[in-house]
Amino acid sequence: MKYTSGFGLPAEVVFDVERAFRLLSKKWFFVGTRGDVPTPRDYFTFDVLGDEFTLLHGADGVIRCFVNRCAHQSARILKEATGSCGPNLVCPNHQWTYHIDSGALRAASMMGQGFMETDVARRSRLTEVALHEVEGMLFACLGDEPSQVEVEEMSTVLAPYTGPFALERGGYKLAHHQREVVPASWLMVMINNRECCHCRQNHRGLLELFDPSSFNGATSASYDVMMAAGIERWEQLGRRWEEHAFTKSDSVRVARYPLSDGWKSITFDGAPASRKLIGGWEDYDASTLSIWFNPNAWVHFTSDHIATNWVLPIDADHCTLYSSWIVREDAVEGVDYELEHLIDVWRVTNAEDVDLCEAMTNGAKSSYYQPGPFAPDEQFCTQFCDWYMRYSAEGPGANEATS
Ligand code: FES
Ligand SMILES: [Fe+2]
Repeated sequence: MKYTSGFGLPAEVVFDVERAFRLLSKKWFFVGTRGDVPTPRDYFTFDVLGDEFTLLHGADGVIRCFVNRCAHQSARILKEATGSCGPNLVCPNHQWTYHIDSGALRAASMMGQGFMETDVARRSRLTEVALHEVEGMLFACLGDEPSQVEVEEMSTVLAPYTGPFALERGGYKLAHHQREVVPASWLMVMINNRECCHCRQNHRGLLELFDPSSFNGATSASYDVMMAAGIERWEQLGRRWEEHAFTKSDSVRVARYPLSDGWKSITFDGAPASRKLIGGWEDYDASTLSIWFNPNAWVHFTSDHIATNWVLPIDADHCTLYSSWIVREDAVEGVDYELEHLIDVWRVTNAEDVDLCEAMTNGAKSSYYQPGPFAPDEQFCTQFCDWYMRYSAEGPGANEATS
């Protein structure tokens, strides 16, 4: 079945894992932030299409991405989702020991005397994958030649918005991380994320925080009033608010949106999520700085926390939905924030979306499936599908930034 712009993806695209792998080998994809691995030795594991990886904050302060498999007999080295490792990475199987900054083998005591001087030992190291940090956000690429133009452009676009948060300089901590295996195609999760017309019926709680027209380009009279008040306030405070739509390499969109009157953060009751402000804010602001990344993430910066969500494929019809909540380093759970209160909005909203994504995935497996048209103001669904079709296609050229 042929793809038509403005319609959903054909089933043979939705369930094509080779195509997904090709895309993730050409384009940078979001894998977390410096807030997920804030201090040296912190790690964060994730899976992509049957391979296991880990982010690792080195003793030298650099965050790297390694394949989470031992060079000896392929055992998984780090078993937890997140945590802190020792001064070296030690495989639990036969204790081969690796340098956390380089992935080089340091010791393999069971291999006998003289082994470390052999060529085999010199060649045995953890496999490193391309990782680039943009404004404290981390992007990996499975291919050997990821585009530097694209990450430089992302940095240029985002710095005026995210600069005051200085996520790249640290000072944050991971308040909570959640990951869920979802019985849905990762592409259905992304299309659902870019869509707004399901929100009114399916995210009743979220509609308390946001005017329903916030996210889809349409406006209402009530939204216009909120936005105008927000713009006046943000201009006085020197905060960037203008939407930066997907352009050039098409991988990032950023916008500041007002929260409902009286709301101080993204919480169901409008009360602050944390008592410790971030991002240079001197008071709570009823807004979110929201960023959408192709192919796989959406991130919300408020004046007291950062909430990140991203999705990665496991196989044709399963994916992992990762979510992290980042607060100021000195915020104390039970004193400055209550965990349930901090995480509730995205925990509940994501659960509502998961059901929809599973239903759409099952529908796409049906012999009666036909990709349907997106609503007229769902241009971000169309943008995502066009982008995916273009950059996941076979052949050269998909690495190039385009205007
Ligand atoms: S598999 Fe890791 S040390 Fe043997
Ligand atoms: Fe949703």
